[in-house]
Amino acid sequence: MTQDELKKAVGWSALKFIKPDSYVGVGTGSTASHFIDALATIKDQIKGTVSSSEASTQKLKNYGITVLDCNEVDYLDVYVDGADEINHHLQMIKGGGAALTREKIVSAIAKQFICIVDESKVVDVLGSFPLPVEVIPMARSYVARELFKLGGKPIYRQGVVTDNGNVILDVHDLVISNPIELENRINSIAGVVTVGLFANKGADIALVGCSSGVKELKL
Ligand code: A5P
Repeated sequence: MTQDELKKAVGWSALKFIKPDSYVGVGTGSTASHFIDALATIKDQIKGTVSSSEASTQKLKNYGITVLDCNEVDYLDVYVDGADEINHHLQMIKGGGAALTREKIVSAIAKQFICIVDESKVVDVLGSFPLPVEVIPMARSYVARELFKLGGKPIYRQGVVTDNGNVILDVHDLVISNPIELENRINSIAGVVTVGLFANKGADIALVGCSSGVKELKL
C-alpha cells in the first residue's frame, strides 16, 4: 500500500469513534483530510465540529458540515487529528502543517484525542522530525537563540505565516528524551506562542495504518 492509502485507511477507521450527537474536533493535514471525507457520510448524526485550521474549515463547509467557533462549545467529545511523529507514550510532534496553536487549543477542550497516523510516524524517541515552534514575529531572533541553547538548530520556515499571523521556527537535531520537560521549557520562553510538542496532554488512542491493517495503540 502507498503512504496515502495507509492514511486513507486510518482516516476512515476513526469513524467508529464518532458517537451520535457529539461535538467533533477536526485536525489538519492529509490524514485528517481523509477523516473529513469519512465524517461527511455521517454529517447529519453529529451536533457540529470545531476545526483546527482554515484549510480544514473550508473542506468541512464544502461538505455542508457545521463548523462552530471554538468559543461556542464548552467541550468536544472527541478530537481526531494526525501527527508528524508519535512515540509509544502517545506523545506527539505536530505542526508540520503550521496549525499547531489551534490544534493545541482544540485538543485542550477535547475529552478524547484520537491520533491517526500511518506507520512511518511511530518512533521510539521524538525529534527526527524538526520540532515546530510558533513565535510572535518580533521575538523570532531571540527565541531562536534560546532554542539554540537547548541544543537544537532552529530554522525559520520562510514564507509561512500561521492562521494567527505568527511565524514558525523548525528546530532540528533534537533528541527529545524528556518531552514533558522540553514542552514546559520552550513554553516558558518569552515570545513563544506554542511548541508543537503534545506531551503534557498527548493522545488517548493512536490508530496506526499498517500494510497489515489498522492497529490501535492505547496507554
Ligand atoms: C498540522 O499542523 C500537523 O500537526 C499535522 O497533523 C501533521 O503535519 C500530519 O500531517 P499529515 O497527515 O499530512 O501527514
